[in-house]
Amino acid sequence: MARTLKPDTLGVRAGGIRSDFQEHSEALVLSTSFVYKSAAEAARKFANTGPDDNIYSRFTNPTVRMFQARLAALEGAEACVATSTGMAAITTMVFGLLKAGDHMVTARGVFGSVVPLLDQIAKKFGIETTWVDATDLDDWKRAIRPNTKLLYAESPSNPVLEIVDIAGLAAIARKAGAIFAMDNAVASPALQRPIALGADLVIHSATKYVEGQGRVLAGAIAGRADLVSGPLFGFVRTAGPAISPYNAWTCLKGMETLGVRMRGHCENALNVARWLEKQPGVERVLYPALESHPQHALAMRQQSAGGPMLSFIAKGGREGAWRVIDAVQLISNTANFGDVKTTICHPASTTHARLTPAEREAAGIAEGLIRLGVGLEHPDDIREDLSRGLAQGKQ
Ligand SMILES: Cc1ncc(COP(=O)(O)O)c(C=O)c1O
Repeated sequence: MARTLKPDTLGVRAGGIRSDFQEHSEALVLSTSFVYKSAAEAARKFANTGPDDNIYSRFTNPTVRMFQARLAALEGAEACVATSTGMAAITTMVFGLLKAGDHMVTARGVFGSVVPLLDQIAKKFGIETTWVDATDLDDWKRAIRPNTKLLYAESPSNPVLEIVDIAGLAAIARKAGAIFAMDNAVASPALQRPIALGADLVIHSATKYVEGQGRVLAGAIAGRADLVSGPLFGFVRTAGPAISPYNAWTCLKGMETLGVRMRGHCENALNVARWLEKQPGVERVLYPALESHPQHALAMRQQSAGGPMLSFIAKGGREGAWRVIDAVQLISNTANFGDVKTTICHPASTTHARLTPAEREAAGIAEGLIRLGVGLEHPDDIREDLSRGLAQGKQ
């Protein structure tokens, strides 16, 4: 598909493969394996699998291929490999690219499950991680060692909305001869394209905005073909963290509305963020499009809008935060975000509870922090729902 097409068009059209049935909507191919015309054809496909060959759905499936091609087009990537979840994508990245004795540098604010993945599981296999302040490029530079092979960050980060200087970090990685991977789950390619800013790889929890309606788990890695179609595809094929064709199809159809959804999410999030800033029960609002965000200028250079997620610190610590969460009637108290339904969560006692208090503090996860995945309900209704618990705090 021509690279000059606009992202909204790529989301609707890129990667489509039409079968002999001439279906208009992309087909969901639910088949574990594919048949060969002859023994010789089977041998040829196994010996040298071409880009259009289908063998077995752990590593070749037409629906998965469409999903991968569409996401690659949106990210401006040479290639994409899909995985069962976002964590499976991160696991594939670590174990597909690194070996015992290698070192990686990772931003402290990345998604909570990445911490035990690296500090407990990867460490057992001799892969060392240094954790740094995502926003401090000097901290990244100081952490580089001769055996540093991978730099990994998330921007905006979940849940504290820190912004990483993607082009700055890409320059550091290039100088160190390391691979640079960015988690783009929160912004999605509709708002930010890390590869254009110098990233080698983009990681997705497609569970979030790529799919967009909270129906399936999915993940992907997009980026340089030598990495994606080489060791990363090889890891998925052999170790098996593959996506199901059904989940890939749901994400493929989700991407058709990605642009329009993200515009709605961002508009609502900015509306709610500006209102929260004025509430007496709120200590601080973290949202990149607010002028009060410490990296507002950088965020607005890298992203086309503030994004769908915001966090705020309720007065009164954990008690104050839980009061707001327990008072909502419309918003869903659930760990996910990336849904058209607004979601609320208390990271310190849920998604980031496995971190030690010191790790939480270092990552900026305050006891009063509340994360909102702002959905597509009318913003008046979202604000009214939040005001219940905030108003109780004043009495
Ligand atoms: C930014 C980010 N990356 C990765 C993940 C992991 O994705 P999954 O839940 O699909 O495994 C999450 C999950 O919430 C996330 O928020």
